[in-house]
Amino acid sequence: MAFIPYRPTFVPNDATLLERSRAYYLFLTTRRSVRDFSERPVPREVIEALVMAASTAPSGAHKQPWTFCVVGNPDLKRQIREAAEAEEYRSYTRRMSAEWLEDLAPLGTDWRKPFLETAPWLIIVFRRIYETDSDRKRPNYYVMESVGLAAGFLLTAVHNAGLVALTHTPSPMDFLTKLLNRPANEKPFLLIPIGYPADDATVPDIHRKETDDVLVWY
Ligand SMILES: Cc1cc2nc3c(=O)[nH]c(=O)nc-3n(C[C@H](O)[C@H](O)[C@H](O)COP(=O)(O)O)c2cc1C
Repeated sequence: MAFIPYRPTFVPNDATLLERSRAYYLFLTTRRSVRDFSERPVPREVIEALVMAASTAPSGAHKQPWTFCVVGNPDLKRQIREAAEAEEYRSYTRRMSAEWLEDLAPLGTDWRKPFLETAPWLIIVFRRIYETDSDRKRPNYYVMESVGLAAGFLLTAVHNAGLVALTHTPSPMDFLTKLLNRPANEKPFLLIPIGYPADDATVPDIHRKETDDVLVWY
């Protein structure tokens, strides 16, 4: 492997360091998971840029163990909605514990997922558990951590673009492997609808942990 000089994009001074850090934090406080989408179209090139932003994430041994499947086809979105709602119906009526349902209650979610058809794009993030290289299986490393980071990059890129997303997990998600005809080395990780918020979109009035609850200095 050749090594090249690392060239910082800019060198902050002490004032801009704090200013930029706080500004970015404040910007991220305005990100919300949105479940009410507008049908307003989003250009394909925008989605491509967002996915490629996600794909800049760090990954174990630089294996980049992710595939982003993007669905805009209305018929396929309908099939995904129907399959997701079937799983979610079973989860909400039978599979989730009383405690889980209690934790979800303030969010007002149920088995119905109309946003899977309303949102112009669904990005289904797959984790690649291994690669096949001339008929030999080669492992990927820290796949969950790596794909989680890439999904996080995707969500911040969506927010930066002025769009909204929902991190959705209609489990079990095997139906996505079948509907999208994905290979055996890929497992569905997250289903992320992306688009503009509906004009009358609402979000639960959640509160985030304070500094002292999440940060421990040593
Ligand atoms: C791994 C993961 C799975 C989630 N699954 C769902 C889901 O299936 N349905 C849903 O409506 N929200 C889901 N969410 C969204 C959370 O409910 C949401 O992030 C949380 O309530 C905080 O709200 P915020 O994203 O607006 O800060 C999920 C979030 C994460 C990180």
